Amino acid sequence: MSSLLVTGIGQLVTNDPALGDGSSLGVVTSAALVVEGGHVAWAGPMVSAPAADSSYDVGGRSVVPGFVDSHSHLVFAGDRSEEFAARMSGTPYSAGGIRTTVAATRAATDEQLAANVARHVAEMRRQGTTTVEIKSGYGLTVHDEARALAIAAQATDETTFLGAHVVPPEYADDPGGYVDLVTGPMLEACAPHARWIDVFCETGAFSADQARAVLAAGRAAGLQGRLHANQLGPGPGVQLACELGLTAVDHCTYLSDCDVDALASSGTVATLLPGVEFSTRSPYPDARGLIDAGVRVAVATDCNPGSSYTSSMPLCVALAVREMRMTPAEALLAATRGGAAALGRTEVGHLAAGARADLVVLDAPSYVHLAYRPGVPIVREVLVGGTAPL
Ligand code: NIG
Ligand code: FE
Repeated sequence: MSSLLVTGIGQLVTNDPALGDGSSLGVVTSAALVVEGGHVAWAGPMVSAPAADSSYDVGGRSVVPGFVDSHSHLVFAGDRSEEFAARMSGTPYSAGGIRTTVAATRAATDEQLAANVARHVAEMRRQGTTTVEIKSGYGLTVHDEARALAIAAQATDETTFLGAHVVPPEYADDPGGYVDLVTGPMLEACAPHARWIDVFCETGAFSADQARAVLAAGRAAGLQGRLHANQLGPGPGVQLACELGLTAVDHCTYLSDCDVDALASSGTVATLLPGVEFSTRSPYPDARGLIDAGVRVAVATDCNPGSSYTSSMPLCVALAVREMRMTPAEALLAATRGGAAALGRTEVGHLAAGARADLVVLDAPSYVHLAYRPGVPIVREVLVGGTAPL
């Protein structure tokens, strides 16, 4: 097995507090890293780097772990730019817009949907994302949800069945019947293609009891649970996620003190999605309060055509810093190691020995530039498992 020494790293963020400056980011200056078999074999100061078969000099730039985007909805067709424009003129966001994308997605061919997923994953990759979770949720029939997940599975192992996104129009008069469909034939068709099950637990979507039923059925079928909750207003979703010990609960925009306490005393990761608040002109979640209370947070894009049509983790890091009062270090940690925790993954989101060699080379001397230079394409190179994409 041949080894590669990545050298000339001006600043290396390992996310391992045992390395470098001892901070949570484990920052090593004048660093090097050895990649072997797609994994990090060694990371530390350049002066003590071991020999390797070949070397690659990044010229003093900084290197950070690849972003782990733990929340996206990439299997869709259609465009909702007019809805966005209307919002910017004062029309509020509503969950009902999801049905516009459902109609367009049902009408699209498998090839069109797969091409759309591939295009967005490539767009994410160019911006430093090396692990992405993709949800269904714009099909809402047995056939359309199953094909959405089969298409998502071509792009990632982190696939999530979100049949319980909204009640589709044909079940408007029978929401209970739709929950029966989701927990029965739809789950049976989707489970083979999914790792996770998710529910939009919100007024206008699904109640806590309905969410509980969907999550229980998903778990019985071997899927792990996660939730969309407390996005559009206060609600029971966050507490439900903590009670059930879910890996992650996403959005967390409207939280009570009890919600924060429940999160702090659970292992559930709170995933914050600042692209949503940006794109819906809504108040941002209180990331500062969550972190100060001891809650583990992740930052993700929620890339979807309605509430957050950005694929850019650097933008979300910048928003987390500027609008949610996270420090640049907290935001980067949340976008890497936090995202990994939100997916229950230990081999991604950091660059200590044993991690998958997912590296992002920044055209900048420091990771702080991710927030300091918003909108500037400073991601210079992305290696997944130590290799550049074809
Ligand atoms: O995560 N919250 C529910 N679902 C998506 C929005 C989808 C849409 O508007 O199309 C979200 O924000
Ligand atoms: Fe979402």
